[in-house]
Amino acid sequence: MNVLIIGGTGTISRAIVRELLAQNHSVTVYNRGQRSDAPPAGVEVIIGDRTNRAAYETTLSKRTFDVAIDMISFTAADAASTIKALPNVGHLIQTSTVMTYGPPFTSLFQGIDAPLNGRHDGGYGAGKVAADELLLDHAQRGGVPVTIVKPSFTFGPGQPLFRQVDWGTNWIDRLRKGKPIIEANEGDNFFQFLPAADAATAYVALCGLRAAHQKIIHIVNPMPLTWHEWHGLAAKAVGVPLQTVSVPWDILAAADAKRYSALTTCLGHTQVFSPQSLIDLVPSWRPRVPLDAAVAETIDWLTQNDRIENSDTDMLEDRIIAAMQQIRGSIHHA
Ligand SMILES: NC(=O)c1ccc[n+]([C@@H]2O[C@H](COP(=O)([O-])OP(=O)(O)OC[C@H]3O[C@@H](n4cnc5c(N)ncnc54)[C@H](OP(=O)(O)O)[C@@H]3O)[C@@H](O)[C@H]2O)c1
Repeated sequence: MNVLIIGGTGTISRAIVRELLAQNHSVTVYNRGQRSDAPPAGVEVIIGDRTNRAAYETTLSKRTFDVAIDMISFTAADAASTIKALPNVGHLIQTSTVMTYGPPFTSLFQGIDAPLNGRHDGGYGAGKVAADELLLDHAQRGGVPVTIVKPSFTFGPGQPLFRQVDWGTNWIDRLRKGKPIIEANEGDNFFQFLPAADAATAYVALCGLRAAHQKIIHIVNPMPLTWHEWHGLAAKAVGVPLQTVSVPWDILAAADAKRYSALTTCLGHTQVFSPQSLIDLVPSWRPRVPLDAAVAETIDWLTQNDRIENSDTDMLEDRIIAAMQQIRGSIHHA
């Protein structure tokens, strides 16, 4: 197949490019050319900025592709622009997200029919819901066949490795330096962590699959982990024992509401989604990359690219840990 990836040098999309090439497909990527590591040999690169809608639509509408995978469509306007750019594409795969479902998340192993609570967040989830609806509506009226894929947390070389309480990377540095890291409520909420290479095999299996037209598909790790287990994988990769200090959510919010805001919007909730929509169409799919190896590979990439922040310049975590120890000590001695 002749496949276009809008994006193509990001965390998930570079893995898709690799998988497509491994399966002998012809690959074109469209991006601004801002990433330092160029796409592999054999990939056609079209340089452009999709926010320049007229140029984006004109450039791509001159081309023909069997499949297009849109990795950077965040709003209804983005989706409408891709329809204009690719009016004759055989199959469009829109990258949405499980954040369309919330929070609040309503049950364990939520299916594709779960309530779209994310439509109310006014930002990321709402934009993706609007884009997905526009594309499905267009397809149902005879337009470009579309598949909406909803990955959960997907990681790999090319992006920071997140932890439970914030979006920074200095927790890896803390681990390396033998410092404890904080966890909200013992890090006991469940999440689904998927290596980008495993997401890529799912995307490629869906490319050109007629049974996937007008379907919503979850791309998630069938085996959820707690954040505490996730932190343990990173400690193992770094080669240290995991030391944690549990802090109640509300104490973290009181310490720095902005820094720890991700707990309320995303990272602090148990959110577990069913892989069944994918298994129904691609029964052989399952994650193949061991999580510990994928975490180690990502930390290696972050290290080589100098992307791990220095924890010594950020004293807040030490202050919170000291305060928690003081509370415990004062109760003990009372
Ligand atoms: N990772 C996760 O946990 C997760 C979970 C659910 C959904 N998702 C979805 O996955 C998608 C991200 O995929 P990814 O990991 O491959 O992307 P990524 O790491 O965010 O990379 C973005 C890609 O798009 C290109 N790009 C960015 N802005 C552009 C623009 N204005 N015009 C043209 N190209 C542009 C980038 O290259 P240049 O910078 O060179 O242009 C790069 O190739 C998003 O839609 C996100 O919502 C991710």
